[in-house]
Amino acid sequence: MELKHYMKQICHQIDGALADLLPAKEQRPTQLHQAMHYSVFAGGKRIRPILMAASCEAVGGDIEQVISAACAMEMIHTYSLIHDDLPAMDDDDFRRGLPTNHKVYGEATAILAGDALLTQAFITLAKPNPTIDATTQQRVLEIMAQAAGAAGMVGGQIVDMEAEGQTPNLETVDYIHRHKTGALILAAIQCGALLGGADRKTFKDLTCFGESAGLAFQIADDILDIIGDQDQLGKDIGSDQQRGKATYPAVLGLEVSQKKMEELHQQSLNSLSSYGAKAEPLRQISAYIINRST
Ligand code: IPE
Ligand code: IPE
Ligand code: MG
Ligand code: MG
Ligand code: MG
Repeated sequence: MELKHYMKQICHQIDGALADLLPAKEQRPTQLHQAMHYSVFAGGKRIRPILMAASCEAVGGDIEQVISAACAMEMIHTYSLIHDDLPAMDDDDFRRGLPTNHKVYGEATAILAGDALLTQAFITLAKPNPTIDATTQQRVLEIMAQAAGAAGMVGGQIVDMEAEGQTPNLETVDYIHRHKTGALILAAIQCGALLGGADRKTFKDLTCFGESAGLAFQIADDILDIIGDQDQLGKDIGSDQQRGKATYPAVLGLEVSQKKMEELHQQSLNSLSSYGAKAEPLRQISAYIINRST
């Protein structure tokens, strides 16, 4: 199946399930619930849910097995974006083609909407699920928690903030990227593998894939902040340079960053060399990650 079609189909399934898993907008406290819906349904690419689904399929599983965990992942990711855009962090005004959450609802509500999305993710993951065995459910929950917290995304975000305005070096920017962005992408791929029934060897191979793809994703994000199209991206460009962010292009320059991304894509493909046609969506997503314009 063509990648565009594959992605669209999963997005559709995820959007339907997200609407069921989030509290209704009309339900009290309405302001909070509206703010949660606003960012979740603002038109994200859903790349983490798509990766989770493709990873599950690569190991012979069925997409149905990942839907609720994939929604939980998207809730965590959306919370991370709401908080990332706050004045205390990147202070950005546009996200997913719309004014950022705090611009519409105010900072207090944006903070709380993020908090509530993070919590809703773990409510979703903890719900009894007769189609998943208890050990797998526990492992998925633990992987997502580790990836979201101080050892993962939040840990990367604080080093990103500390590095602002400093002279960046490769070791620091690598740490930032592997944590603030790589961790959730890796977790999506690992959870997809586990939910699809991966054995140890397969889990390890997909972990290698996820590490390369996760880092490549953030290098592409850095590059798009320089050469991307603002309207297509749906967020302000040039904000990294303006804030003195530690990015790959700031350390290595555009051309070397581009090369690094291509190397990572090749590494991703190498880790899937023995997986045949079932892993084709994953391979294509890896190419999409480094060639994307949004
Ligand atoms: C943006 O993520 C923030 C990063 C971690 C790089 P995405 O590029 O996946 O954003 P959406 O979900 O499509 O809006
Ligand atoms: C985002 O990094 C990482 C997280 C939100 C965890 P960026 O700050 O580069 O993401 P954008 O460019 O604002 O989407
Ligand atoms: Mg940031
Ligand atoms: Mg940002
Ligand atoms: Mg960025």
